[in-house]
Amino acid sequence: MISFPGREEVIRRVYDHGQERIFDFWNEISDSEKLRLLDDVESIDFTLLERLFRQAEQGSPPPMGFEPAPYIPLAGEEEGGAEFREARERGRELISEGAVAAFVVAGGQGSRLGFDGPKGLFSAGPVSGKSLFQIHAEQIRKSSEKFGVRIPWLIMTSHSNHDQTVRFLEDNSRFGLDAADVYVFPQGMIPSLDLEGKLILETPSSIFKNPDGHGGSLGALAGSGTLHAMRERGIRIISYFQVDNPLVSIIDPLFIGFHSLRKADISSKGLMKAYPEERIGVFVRFDNGAIGVVEYSDLPEELQKQRDERGRLRYRMGSIAIHLFGVDYLESITGGTDLSLPFHAARKKIGSHTANGIREIDGYKFEKFVFDALPLTERNIVLETKREEEFAPIKNPSGVDSVESAQGLMDARARRWLRERGIDVPPSTAVVEISPLLALEPGDIPASLRVPDRKRVNLEPDKD
Ligand code: UD1
Repeated sequence: MISFPGREEVIRRVYDHGQERIFDFWNEISDSEKLRLLDDVESIDFTLLERLFRQAEQGSPPPMGFEPAPYIPLAGEEEGGAEFREARERGRELISEGAVAAFVVAGGQGSRLGFDGPKGLFSAGPVSGKSLFQIHAEQIRKSSEKFGVRIPWLIMTSHSNHDQTVRFLEDNSRFGLDAADVYVFPQGMIPSLDLEGKLILETPSSIFKNPDGHGGSLGALAGSGTLHAMRERGIRIISYFQVDNPLVSIIDPLFIGFHSLRKADISSKGLMKAYPEERIGVFVRFDNGAIGVVEYSDLPEELQKQRDERGRLRYRMGSIAIHLFGVDYLESITGGTDLSLPFHAARKKIGSHTANGIREIDGYKFEKFVFDALPLTERNIVLETKREEEFAPIKNPSGVDSVESAQGLMDARARRWLRERGIDVPPSTAVVEISPLLALEPGDIPASLRVPDRKRVNLEPDKD
């Protein structure tokens, strides 16, 4: 057994749990590195990891029985009109009162996209080349202007991309947002395990950990003190979204209004799945009455394909990971610092430090999912939204859910909005982009606007 003065207890714990392989390079590392490794180990909950490993080996238990979740369908002109109007009005009031904050989860590693850096830095604007962060920041700025209120922007990063994210935002003066309105905080990390349940070394003196999933965001909000800061600012609703969707409507009066009118603790946006195999989770109602999401990979094929009497998919309401959380409710479930959402295991390739350098091995990463918070309350609603208006995720380098598909959707939405305002797009124009600073909805576009006769057009507000 290795030894280090004063640290006998933690070393014993490592041996007791059969994890002594993390000391394989003990004789090659300096005293300060030894201390770092032991500090790293100190915070590890071995009992939790052992439980998660058993769970990963057995596969996830079948979800409780469920049926399709009820949802508020898109308003046709004739149906639901009055409630929709009332909701929009209520939402506008709440935003103007300064009761709403925007919250983006941006701790993911973007490995599927093959982009080496925080995903928020990825260039998404089809003409402007604006980064995802810039597009989101400009939306928040425009909403602030429209409603005459300061809207805080919360950004969750992870340890691997936190510094780069902060630097990027600073270098770009937070795209015009006030420093006092931008809150950046990292999420928690959890060790990954190899297929024998052993910890993995990332370097000779550090243990490989992965971000604890977007479900870690609720604990991180509370733990970082940001939830408390929001309470102090009078924020009552937190509008949660993913960094990878440039079409997301971050501050949406209709959604916020429904959340308030229906006295919800959590509200979610859903849309019709495009085809049965689409990789989005679906909203369900579990046998105990609670609404939740079953992830695409957990929905049995037979249910994926089931149709109702009208020929529509039975499980058709897909989750696009857009939610509203009541601050009161978040405070009640995080109990000040933490929240126990379950971890899900995923088998992934992990770089492990060996005597011959880094070797890719198979292992388990553990993550919490934010939508597991949904069934914790029965005051939970789903509002249908239009895919073409609000959903263009950038996940893959090409093909489905790629930057090309997202830019195509951004161009199509821009043209639709211009058409709605009766503004022509010259036939020679191949791509149109509308800056969030110009418009967040068709009604924001000045009726006098003319689209210049160019191949690629980016419409920004006049500079004066
Ligand atoms: C996710 C949802 C899926 C939904 C789809 C919509 C899961 C498991 N599935 O799929 O139900 O229909 O989005 O686009 O989430 N993130 C963190 N920290 C982490 C992990 C992720 O902040 O530890 C952030 C990412 O930065 C990103 C978002 O969460 O903004 C989504 O992560 P991603 O891994 O891309 O989720 P998907 O599996 O694509």
